[in-house]
Amino acid sequence: MDNKAFFKLTYGLFVAGTTWEDKQNACIINTATQATSEPGRMLATMMKTNYTTELIQKKGSLTISVLALDCPLNLIGNFGFSSGRDRNKFEEIPYALDEQGNPYLLEHIIARFSCKVEQTIDLGTHSLFVCAVTEAEVTGSGQPMTYASYRILKTGGSVPGLEKPETAAKATETAAAAVPEKPQKRWVCSVCHYVYDGEIPFEELPEDYVCPVCKRPKSVFVLEES
Ligand SMILES: Cc1cc2nc3c(=O)[nH]c(=O)nc-3n(C[C@H](O)[C@H](O)[C@H](O)COP(=O)(O)O)c2cc1C
Repeated sequence: MDNKAFFKLTYGLFVAGTTWEDKQNACIINTATQATSEPGRMLATMMKTNYTTELIQKKGSLTISVLALDCPLNLIGNFGFSSGRDRNKFEEIPYALDEQGNPYLLEHIIARFSCKVEQTIDLGTHSLFVCAVTEAEVTGSGQPMTYASYRILKTGGSVPGLEKPETAAKATETAAAAVPEKPQKRWVCSVCHYVYDGEIPFEELPEDYVCPVCKRPKSVFVLEES
């Protein structure tokens, strides 16, 4: 099976947020989608190991913030590459609470939803939350960030509808001038999107190597080239 086929699907990029016992937490997801319109229902598939998932299960509700195409990549890093078990992800992030007390972002989003979990389907490593939408608001006029655009932007590429910030564009030009063009390769966890950056070449890692973030086996990593 070629796991890279999953990268050919079209996804958005979202921040799923919740609150439990005065603790706000959130993480990046690309698996939020509309299920029905009347009544409004959304689905979100989340790794059971995520702290956000644990808190959503306790609270029974969550927010889904739709990231804007021009959102800073470090915002995605803030919510997607570390756990709220280790740090307060909202420390420097402007946010508000919805009617259920769950946090949503006030900047860099174009819409937000409040969701009440109606059903939780056990998918083994993941939980699939089937949710009733209780609030929905358009908060900005820009384009949504897609998973495909994010993957291009994080490797210094450009996407239609988004001007590269001058400094980033300059940095890319300088890097391009200094380094002879050769395809960049990286091993990426297809489950949690962790990018392997160890000293040992990925191919030489032992077969029992597991992703340090989501603990899935070496076999779920895919080789990306750009
Ligand atoms: C681009 C991207 C997409 C992601 N998509 C999902 C997803 O759909 N479901 C999920 O459970 N985690 C997803 N993650 C991983 C979580 O955001 C990540 O494991 C996060 O650190 C969990 O934080 P927490 O422990 O505070 O909940 C994604 C991460 C990135 C960077």
